[in-house]
This record gives sequence, C-alpha cells and structure tokens, in this order.
Amino acid sequence: MTHPNAQGVSRDLLRRATARFGERFPGEGPRVAVSPGRVNLIGEHTDYNDGFVLPMAIGRAAVIVFRPRADRVLRGHSVAYDETKELALDALSAPGGNDWLSYVAGVFWAFASEGLPLCGLDLVVDGDVPIGAGLSSSAALELATARALAAATGTPWDAVRMAKLGQKAENKYVGMNCGIMDQFASAACEAGHALLLDCRSLETRPVPVPKGAAVVVMDTGARRSLAGSAYNDRRAACERVVAEIANATPGVRALRDVTVDQLETAKPRLDVTDFKRASHVVPENRRPVEAADALQAGDLARAGRLMNDSHFSLRDLYEVSCEELDLVTEIARRQPSCFGARMTGAGFGGCAVALVKTPDVGAFCDAVLTAYEARIDLPAALYPCRPEAGARLLD
Ligand code: GLA
Repeated sequence: MTHPNAQGVSRDLLRRATARFGERFPGEGPRVAVSPGRVNLIGEHTDYNDGFVLPMAIGRAAVIVFRPRADRVLRGHSVAYDETKELALDALSAPGGNDWLSYVAGVFWAFASEGLPLCGLDLVVDGDVPIGAGLSSSAALELATARALAAATGTPWDAVRMAKLGQKAENKYVGMNCGIMDQFASAACEAGHALLLDCRSLETRPVPVPKGAAVVVMDTGARRSLAGSAYNDRRAACERVVAEIANATPGVRALRDVTVDQLETAKPRLDVTDFKRASHVVPENRRPVEAADALQAGDLARAGRLMNDSHFSLRDLYEVSCEELDLVTEIARRQPSCFGARMTGAGFGGCAVALVKTPDVGAFCDAVLTAYEARIDLPAALYPCRPEAGARLLD
C-alpha cells in the first residue's frame, strides 16, 4: 500500500493529528514535528556489538503536534489509544513506565539528565509506523518528541546528540536495552539515501539508493513475542564471547574487533550456542559496508546476495527469525524481479525487506502477497518505500 505523502509523511495522518489537537487543545496554531520509522537494509544485531548498520528512513512516521505551556506540565493525547494523560516535569525519574506517554516522557527526562532546558507542552501523538513490526515506531516517537522539545526550548538540533538522547530514554526510562541504530536512523537519515553507520565512531556515509532498485517492506502480520528477553539473551551471549576472547587478545572490546580466525581459535573455550551467535555477528558486521559499496556501484545483484546471506545467518545462527519471516523472504526470492530479501529489525515476527527491480515492483508485491496469504492467515501488507529524511519540523 502507498499513500499520498507531503514532505515524506501521509497527508491524511497530518490532517488527523492536527484536527485532534484542535479539538483537545484549542487555541493558537500549534507546530508539528515528525520523525520516521526505518527499515534496516542490512547489518542486523550488529549495532550493540559496535558494528555497522545500513538503515533507511521510510515514509511512515510518528507525528507530534505541540504547543508550549506556561507551566511545567506535559499534557499528552494519543490518537491511537484515544486517551489524555498528564505528568509534572519536575517529578520525572527513571525508570518510568512503558506505555505510549513513557516514550515521550523518557525524552523529557533524558534532556533534563543532560542539563538541557525543559518546558511544559500540550501535545498530540499520532503516527502510522505499525507498532511491534520491527520498523522502529518507538524510536520515531522518541525523535519526534526530541524535535518538538528542542524547538519549544530553543535547543539547537544536533542529530547525533538527539539520537543518543533518544537511546538513553529507551534504555534507562522505558527499560529496553536497544542499540543506537533506530534512534540514529530516525534522527539523521537523508532523503534519497540509506545511511551507513559505524555504531562505534558514529561516523556516517549516506548511500544513494539507485533508481533501478525499489525497497519493499513486507509486513508478515506476525507481531513480536518474547522479543525483549530473547534480545537480552543474544546481547549477553555476545558479551560472553568478547570477554573470553579479550582474555587472550587485549584490545578486543566488542565483537566488532573479532576476526573469523580469532573466533575459530576460541571455539573450544566457548559455549556452543554462544559460538553460533558470534558466528552470525562477525561476518554480518562486514555486510553493511559491502552492501553500501554494491549499492553505490549499482551492483544490485551483489547487494541482494548479501541480504540473502544475512537472512540465512539470522535464521540459522542467531535464531531470531520465525516461520512467517522465512516464508515471506523465500517467496520473495522466487520472484525473478527480486535481488534479495531478509528479515529486518530485531526479529521474531514483524517485517522483512526485499530489494526489487523498480519497474516490476507492483507485480512483485501482488505475487508475494497472494502466495503468502495462501499459506498464512494474518493481516500481511507489502509496500514499496522511498528513502525519506530524518526528524524534522514541518513549519
Ligand atoms: C532493534 C534494536 C536495534 C537493533 C536491532 C537489531 O531494532 O532497537 O538497536 O539492535 O533490533 O539489529
């Protein structure tokens, strides 16, 4: 499904969010901040290993319509939950909750924790990034909040700093131990480009997505289950492998620093499952750089092969795929117009991504959806995505 977009965001969404603001908080014209969800093209479960990722912002976003208040109160209304809640800014402390307002409040808390000014806001939260689908609806909400709060307080917008604040909100306030990829993509992506990010140095390279390639998000309709604990288990396995190898090899701080040879040498000393996990991360960490080079050179066949390799590794070694993700990517690969396909995001449900020949994208989406729906009774959806810009104000 595609929708008519204005500045990379659905017009209907903007209309709905501003209309709701007018109903709930009548008065002077509000401002609007938006921040996109993302699809990660390659480099999965590498960000918290200090590695490389290649995400791209999509035309689905979190929207915050806001107006400053004279007092230190945050009054938020969620369109999705149709509820209004209030918080006193001076009472914020971490950890907070994990309801919709906590993603907003967490960013206020993160600003304050770094000595940045706060101000009270009336705001409406809306968006069209599906929740729990692996497209980073939470990072989108955090960065839209950051953009709104920065504008309301006159804080200069520094995308890298704001990405880190968003991650801090998620790690310490909401309590999800994610890496930096999602917040960084939502803050800093550029229109027309995927973003190669070194998660250690935070250096970036915008990578143009060639005209001949369409990026298709394939939502399996399956929603993540057990994702939090399985995610933390994977992180812990990576840390155990690093600790073991670092004993023998000083200078190794993360799996980013480990070579395939070093991993093989350490194998007898490692737990079998931990070894499998690291055997995904070490090669996966090279793929974003190779895929970025392939995209830049217009070598779509190579980019697609790397995506397929990534999926097989996530399925067999990291074990974060599921039946629906395996099936939809398998069907995608069978289409002659498909260069490659893989799961995207943390896994255990949610979305996959395919790289497809642009002129054939409509037929590709129809064929994959029909074949998938013949096997799986879930509300699936396929949509081509253009690379959009990161967090921005719309006025
Ligand atoms: C989630 C996390 C990210 C990243 C991915 C897996 O999206 O929020 O930080 O770890 O999973 O690549």
